[in-house]
Amino acid sequence: MIENKKYVELLWHQKYDKVDLGEKTPIEKPNLPFQTVETINKPRIKEGVQQFLYPEDEWPKDYPKDWKNLLIWGDNKLVMSSLIKQGWAGKINLIYIDPPFFTGADFTVRTKLGDEEIEKEPSIIEERAYKDTWSGGIASYLKYMYERLVLMRELLAENGSIYVHLDWHVGHYVKVMMDEIFGYENFRNEIVWNYISGGISQKAFARKHDVIYLYTKSENYLFNYLKERKEKYADIDLAECLEDEKGKFIWYIRPGTNPKVPDGVKTYIDGFMQDVWQVPIVNPQAEERLAFDTQKPETLLKRIILASSNPGDIIADFFCGSGTTLAVAEKLGRRWIGSDLSKFAIQVTRKRLLDIHNSKDLMEEG
Ligand SMILES: C[S@@+](CC[C@H](N)C(=O)[O-])C[C@H]1O[C@@H](n2cnc3c(N)ncnc32)[C@H](O)[C@@H]1O
Repeated sequence: MIENKKYVELLWHQKYDKVDLGEKTPIEKPNLPFQTVETINKPRIKEGVQQFLYPEDEWPKDYPKDWKNLLIWGDNKLVMSSLIKQGWAGKINLIYIDPPFFTGADFTVRTKLGDEEIEKEPSIIEERAYKDTWSGGIASYLKYMYERLVLMRELLAENGSIYVHLDWHVGHYVKVMMDEIFGYENFRNEIVWNYISGGISQKAFARKHDVIYLYTKSENYLFNYLKERKEKYADIDLAECLEDEKGKFIWYIRPGTNPKVPDGVKTYIDGFMQDVWQVPIVNPQAEERLAFDTQKPETLLKRIILASSNPGDIIADFFCGSGTTLAVAEKLGRRWIGSDLSKFAIQVTRKRLLDIHNSKDLMEEG
């Protein structure tokens, strides 16, 4: 029975099975020795000289030099409960997840062997996971997500953030569930990722966006605001709050009121980043492209990681797929933990991370 009249909760079949209603986190937590595929912390070598991520005197105080990043192969429910048992509760600064969406192709991957494109069928473990997740339709999916989100909350640091990437299939259900687990008051943003891709419909508006829900564990959270560069014309409305060179905030309200912009001249303005992100999907020619169907653009993850973490922080992606989050974390000097159920995903990620070390492909802050 719900006692607080303002409280709303989503109910699904078997939600409270094997659950002790008295406990806040009623999820079973086995502690299994998981298979860590890789602990990548090789020093970078450039022109034969060992490079460290930071000069000796700038080494972040929270980034121990003997730290080992973790790439773990296994079901993330077991991975996360084992991490909790092994002392990781409250230690992760930022979690991003991009869980499967009930597309029917969640565990089938297309990859390239030479010039030939092949489809890799799901393994028995993946098939089993697929059945567990979807056999009862949305209800079994919600149970699957609920258990995992509760574990993620436990792993998050008190000032940590979680970004959950979804689309129209289940986004609305998961939003209500996250209100329950993280608290409605800790909901910060619904980010709309708007992209251009093929595929149109004559029976509905073409679906060209995903949503990314941002929640924090508490109200004392880390947020580094970001700016974005927008193309503007002097003759359109510049109703935007901008910061001048002295750090003063100025509202530009009417057309032509910006003295620095002559009429009709094309100009660029750095404004505060808003919650609709127009970022291209990873096209087949893109340099970052890997043979992984659901790969997300590095630009998306760069924004998330810069906004909600500092160098040296620990970033986790428990549905890491091709390893986009971990690759961007690595390039931005963050520590990382990744897991995936699919061996193929782990292999792709492992190669991607090792390639960064070999190329020293680092990213700039900001
Ligand atoms: C949509 S993909 C993630 C793609 C990723 N964001 C990227 O940029 O490549 C979802 C991934 O979740 C993995 N997955 C699904 N269920 C899982 C589970 N229970 N534990 C761990 N990984 C799981 C799948 O194998 C798949 O690689």
